[in-house]
Amino acid sequence: MASGRGSREPEEPGLGPEDFRVLRDAVSSHCGLELSIEQRGTVERRLRERLVILGLDSFGEYVRMLRDDPPVRGGRVLGDSATELDEAVECLTTHETYFNREAYQLRAFREEVIPMLAKQAAPRRRLAVWSAGCSTGEEVYTIAAMLLEAPELVGWDLLVYGSDISRRCLAHARRGVYGPSAFRTTPPEFRRRWFTERDSGAIISDRLRQICHFGHLNLLEPERATAVGRVDAVFCRNVLIYLESRARRRVIDLFHERLYPGGVLLLGHSESLLNVSTAFELLHLRDDLVYRRPLLGSFGYPSSRKMRVASKVGGLPGDDSTDEPSGAIDVRKAPGKKSEP
Ligand SMILES: C[S@@+](CC[C@H](N)C(=O)[O-])C[C@H]1O[C@@H](n2cnc3c(N)ncnc32)[C@H](O)[C@@H]1O
Repeated sequence: MASGRGSREPEEPGLGPEDFRVLRDAVSSHCGLELSIEQRGTVERRLRERLVILGLDSFGEYVRMLRDDPPVRGGRVLGDSATELDEAVECLTTHETYFNREAYQLRAFREEVIPMLAKQAAPRRRLAVWSAGCSTGEEVYTIAAMLLEAPELVGWDLLVYGSDISRRCLAHARRGVYGPSAFRTTPPEFRRRWFTERDSGAIISDRLRQICHFGHLNLLEPERATAVGRVDAVFCRNVLIYLESRARRRVIDLFHERLYPGGVLLLGHSESLLNVSTAFELLHLRDDLVYRRPLLGSFGYPSSRKMRVASKVGGLPGDDSTDEPSGAIDVRKAPGKKSEP
């Protein structure tokens, strides 16, 4: 136990308001993550380990590093700003995910959306889904299982693309080995069907793996999203809630551009396009509401920027994005708010 003056522990470095502001701005312009002043203590706690790893004495030095002015110790430059920004984002983002998350929405996707998309994409016999902000991959494999189980899609070319800003999460997703918490709401049948049990965990089956592709993508760098090609559906669940409003708009613009006309956008249950975008229609399903990119001609594009970007980018081989599919479900203009489960 500490006693007397000489044995006092050195004080841990604190994150002052000015350093917090610089850090918050750097993080938000890099990836859109919104950090409020109330989160200063949490940010300080989560980043303290970075100071230890980098051998820094204060958050002032850390912030200087992010500003591309890294401290020098004994002739050695400590860290570099681009790498450190990625590390900071890794520490500050939430990666929580699991298989079959928000089951009511997945049921709506399976029972109503897949049949609609299958009709729309019938001339292509190819269906592509993008899980944007896929974390460690559970959402990607869940979607892949639904596509492989859909009778409408037997013999089709199927693809599920998972992207995230976190390289660590993507490495986990590619490994495809999961512990018990990933299965917290999973019916045993799903686990039996799509996994092999090993001491190291449950390993994803090759059949699922074959149609899943993972890639590193910061959603605020739309020019890099061309690798995704055009898609029939985007799942972006539990990502927008962490982003500031301008970043949300940019991300939604990107989804609009990557979706085929008639393609759908599925958000998390607490997320909506209210005050974000009016470019999507709302599809009223039996148990859920999802957004849909209007068919060509039924709505305008929301901005000229989108038109410009859309004309620049190319899709994957086989991209026939000019197809205009036929609609099948009750479509109304989006009021911007989805129903809670
Ligand atoms: C809470 S997880 C959601 C995982 C999954 N979609 C789900 O609902 O279960 C949020 C993920 O979004 C990712 N993310 C946050 N900002 C991002 C950005 N600008 N670009 C790409 N991914 C981002 C995080 O790294 C994190 O893995």
